[in-house]
Amino acid sequence: MTRLSGITPSGHAHIGNHLGAIRRWARQGRPGDLYFVSDLHAMTVSYNPARLRKLSRELLAVLVAAGIEPDQVFVQSDLVREVGALTWVLECACSFGEAARMTQFKQKSEGQGMVRLGLLTYPVLMAADILLQGAAEVPVGDDQAQHVELARSLARRFNTTYGEVFTVPEAVTPPTAARVRDLSDPGRKMSKSTQDSAGVVFVLDEPDLIRRKVRRAVTDSLGRVEYRPQEQPGLANLVEILSACVGKPPREVVAGFSSYGELKEAVADAVIEELRPLRERASALLADRAELDRIRKAGAERATERGAHRLSSALRLAGVG
Ligand code: AMP
Ligand code: TRP
Repeated sequence: MTRLSGITPSGHAHIGNHLGAIRRWARQGRPGDLYFVSDLHAMTVSYNPARLRKLSRELLAVLVAAGIEPDQVFVQSDLVREVGALTWVLECACSFGEAARMTQFKQKSEGQGMVRLGLLTYPVLMAADILLQGAAEVPVGDDQAQHVELARSLARRFNTTYGEVFTVPEAVTPPTAARVRDLSDPGRKMSKSTQDSAGVVFVLDEPDLIRRKVRRAVTDSLGRVEYRPQEQPGLANLVEILSACVGKPPREVVAGFSSYGELKEAVADAVIEELRPLRERASALLADRAELDRIRKAGAERATERGAHRLSSALRLAGVG
């Protein structure tokens, strides 16, 4: 049963991406699973082409450095012909209402100068990513569950209208859907695209920068080192990060600290140690152009080949190609 998930290079990967997604993908490590850099998705809002290219490469290196097998990764745009073609087929099986109903579309289109048509149709591109590879399970955060639901509907609709081609995928949302929050504003989740990065710990940040960011994390004036997410969200966020790094429950890790300062040093140490091997491997890969190119090319060939028969069957059944 193939698992597949993607991560969009809309910014540098952060500790939330690592703990909430990338590290899980690496640990699950089942042969045949696929994890990819969804660079085409980054084009749905205003972006810089040169930066996108750089971020895609960096994210590919991060996935491998985090321990995902090099033969399980690829970059989405290396399959642009295949996913582009399948997106068209699926767009013609999707109603305008279905696309317009997507919560993320409504949220992201609000306040944008130009709402790109790609922002509306992007869940269909995501369905194409999933259905092309015949993925049965799609690990995603809650915010993406609705998109996987759409992929399910489109797969079923295509199969009943034109003929059986697609595996109907299922979203798998992590059991503890803990969201790492921004260190300088615990009211919002840590995000790749936040303008001010003071509260965002990137996976490739140098140790002393990580320590500075953690030291400056917003807490409260209660002075009680306890795990109370409602009353002390900033502190609870630090405790949850520490908990995820050391693999013990929050209430257990919080015991034994007498001050916020002491806790912050422990959090900084744990995060630095958690990320150290990843940063070292990613830097080595980014410095070795030929090796990263080789991984990328092999990934593209594998994923293209894997999806080829589904794409040609879908085109044939749809009466084209
Ligand atoms: P995104 O950064 O929104 O493209 O998400 C990529 C992956 O990282 C998804 O699987 C998200 O669920 C996960 N993720 C993103 N932000 C966080 C966060 N702050 N805490 C935990 N997981 C996150
Ligand atoms: N849209 C997802 C996100 O923003 C990333 C993504 C693209 C994805 N294609 C996918 C996730 C296919 C799972 C399956 O997080």
